[in-house]
Amino acid sequence: MKIFVDTAKIEEIRQVKEWGILEGITTNPTLLSQTGKPWKEAALEILREVPDKPVSLEVIATDFEGMLKEARELAKFGDNVVVKIPFTTEGIKAVKVLTAEGIKTNVTLVFSSLQALVAGKIGATYVSPFIGRLDDIAYEGLLVLEEIVHLYEIYGIETEIIAASVRNVDHVRRCALLGVDIATIPFSIIKQMLYHPLTEIGLKRFLEDAKKANISIL
Ligand code: E4P
Repeated sequence: MKIFVDTAKIEEIRQVKEWGILEGITTNPTLLSQTGKPWKEAALEILREVPDKPVSLEVIATDFEGMLKEARELAKFGDNVVVKIPFTTEGIKAVKVLTAEGIKTNVTLVFSSLQALVAGKIGATYVSPFIGRLDDIAYEGLLVLEEIVHLYEIYGIETEIIAASVRNVDHVRRCALLGVDIATIPFSIIKQMLYHPLTEIGLKRFLEDAKKANISIL
């Protein structure tokens, strides 16, 4: 499972990149608004920092023609731009055209396996089921995700599944066990994934024992 970072904050992106585990970025208008910078400046800064991995940028228009115009504009920002299109009837029409033009798409705001099936049929590059927001309304997001993984296997759909709206480390663990292609994870949860109290306690003890035994390697 690839690790994408669900953020528009450049400091967070740089940190995950330094750790060597950054495989892509997803943003949305909410995340871009949280940077406190003009959206275009924030988007271009991300693309400069990550020129060789997929970066999702979302359209704002909701009509077919408007989405196409915005998507074509966003695609000019870089070869690694993936245009995020919401799952609406206008959106799926737009994805079909963009796919034919060779523009990469990420169908977002997906909440059911049937929406994901349609995203696959129209040739979306990625589909983003939102698991946390389903949990929020007392519907198990991971069950929907499991259905999508199953349907994509049965029908040999090549669209990559991005588990989105990831809210905790257990979501990440269960996404990995389901065989999801990608999880897009907030920075705070990536940090939690890298920490284990037993690692910290174990290291402390090893260092104390090394001191007692006068171990000095260099
Ligand atoms: C990513 O593509 C989504 O925009 C994001 O994961 C949504 O997460 P949220 O439900 O925590 O806002």
